[in-house]
Order: sequence, then structure tokens, then C-alpha cells
Amino acid sequence: MIRVRRITHATFETPDLEAQLDHYARVLGLTVVERDGNRAFLSAGNDHHTVVLQKGTDARCVRLGFQLGGNDDLADFARHVEGHGIATARKSDSQPGVSDLLSFTDPKGTLIEVFRNQEASPQPFGKTGILPHKLGHIAFNVTDLGSALRFYCDVLGFRESDWLADFFAFLRCNADHHAINLVSGERVKMHHIAFELKDFAHIGAACDALAAENIPLIWGPVRHGIGHNISVYYRNPDGQIIELFTEIDKMSDEDLGWWEPRPYHEDRFQKPKVWMPTVPAANIWGIPAPTDFLD
Ligand SMILES: [Fe+2]
Repeated sequence: MIRVRRITHATFETPDLEAQLDHYARVLGLTVVERDGNRAFLSAGNDHHTVVLQKGTDARCVRLGFQLGGNDDLADFARHVEGHGIATARKSDSQPGVSDLLSFTDPKGTLIEVFRNQEASPQPFGKTGILPHKLGHIAFNVTDLGSALRFYCDVLGFRESDWLADFFAFLRCNADHHAINLVSGERVKMHHIAFELKDFAHIGAACDALAAENIPLIWGPVRHGIGHNISVYYRNPDGQIIELFTEIDKMSDEDLGWWEPRPYHEDRFQKPKVWMPTVPAANIWGIPAPTDFLD
């Protein structure tokens, strides 16, 4: 089975392109790779683009990008996707830096863009701003968790990492604990987008940078039980939740099937499991999420 190897980029529509662009470029520190009057491509580092912003009537995530392995064949992957009854389209030069991609739609209506090769970002890592290392994961509220789970696991090749009860799935496509989260909810929407920082000191510096912009945290710092990442959460100008995290669990060997050992793990060895919905599952440091956090 051909599996996607990593999440690369997310595309957002926004009613206020300039405010969002200012946040992602100046505050978060992503580099602007390309832009015109209606859209902007920003990179967190090596990927040609990590966040794409385009004018729209509503603030919403409309597309996600995933990369295949260097020896995978896009035509073979297209046959695999179509074998699940999903129509695909092969697109040439549909966006800068990715000359050949396959697009299709997931069950919740998000356009999925899968490619093998991309150009590296033409810009070096930024020098000012929070400066995340990479896009880590994206979480969605979905109304049909079962169909979304089958799509990400059976079509894209994700694996189940952990569950919170029966309503919150954490899915991985490489060593990182999760690249996609699916939360059962009343409506379909992106819940949060998460960027990885270097370490806890980097998280602290990011909190100071947000405070200097008068941007309050809405939760954190926490150390999650599930995934064990240290995280803080705040809202961007469109009101979407952004997570900054570090120290997420990693599974270096799928055959061994456990997360790299850490002294704060609950289990020995720590393996994928179903967690009960208690405070430590969300934050082993004890402060629970705001009551409306998962809405
Ligand atoms: Fe997250």
C-alpha cells in the first residue's frame, strides 16, 4: 500500500487576507514565497509552502497537502485512490513549487493534494517572529467520524495512534504521534492547526512574542497525556485556533509499536491505546481545557 509520508501544507480561505498574512508572516515568522492580490504562499522552512492564504467569504481550511515517498508512483497511487470509488484529477503546475499533483476530496469536503516532488522554498528560514520548524498537524471537527477515519487510514494510509474515548482520533503518517486529528462534532470545521517549535524555551519565547502583540493564550502551557506534547493555544485574526507544540511522542519503529520512552509516560511501554476522558489525558499538568475547547 502506498502511504502518504508527511503533511506539507494547508490552504485557507479568509475574508481578511492582509490581517492573516500579517499574522503568519510577521508574528509567526513564515517567509512569503509568492503572493499576488488574492493569495499568498508562505513557508515554514524547507517546504515550498506551508500555509496558503486566499481571499474568500469565510475563514476556512479548504485544502491539505501530503507528500509521497521518493520511490512512490503517483499513477499507482491514483489507481489505489480510485479503487476506493474516489474520483481523482492529475494537475500540472496548478500551484508554484509543485509541478505534478493528484487532487481528490475527502469525506468532509476538504480537497486533498498529494504529490511526490516539490521545489524547496526559495527563501531561507525566517529570522524574526516565532519561527516554527514545520507544520505538525491539523485537527478537524467532523460529523461522520467513521467515514473520515476510513478515508485517512484506508486511502491515505494513516495509522491510529491514540483515541480519546470514542470521539477523538489521533492519526499518524510517520514517526510523529499525529498529523491529523478527527473530533466528532456537530459541524465540519478545522479545529486547530499546529506548528512544531524547537523546545520548551522556544515555547516560552513564543508566548512572550504573542503577549507583545496582545494575543492571549486560550489554553496552556500544557503537557498533553495523549501525544505528550507541550502545547499552547491561541487564536489568529480569523479566530482559528493555532497550537504551538514541542516534544511530541515519536514512534521510531512501527514493528516495536511503542513511543520512544519518556519519564512522564503513564505506561511501560507506552503504546497506542484508548484513553478515558479525564484531565490527565488532556493535560498531565492538571489544568483542564476550556469547556468549549472541542466545539
Ligand atoms: Fe493539536
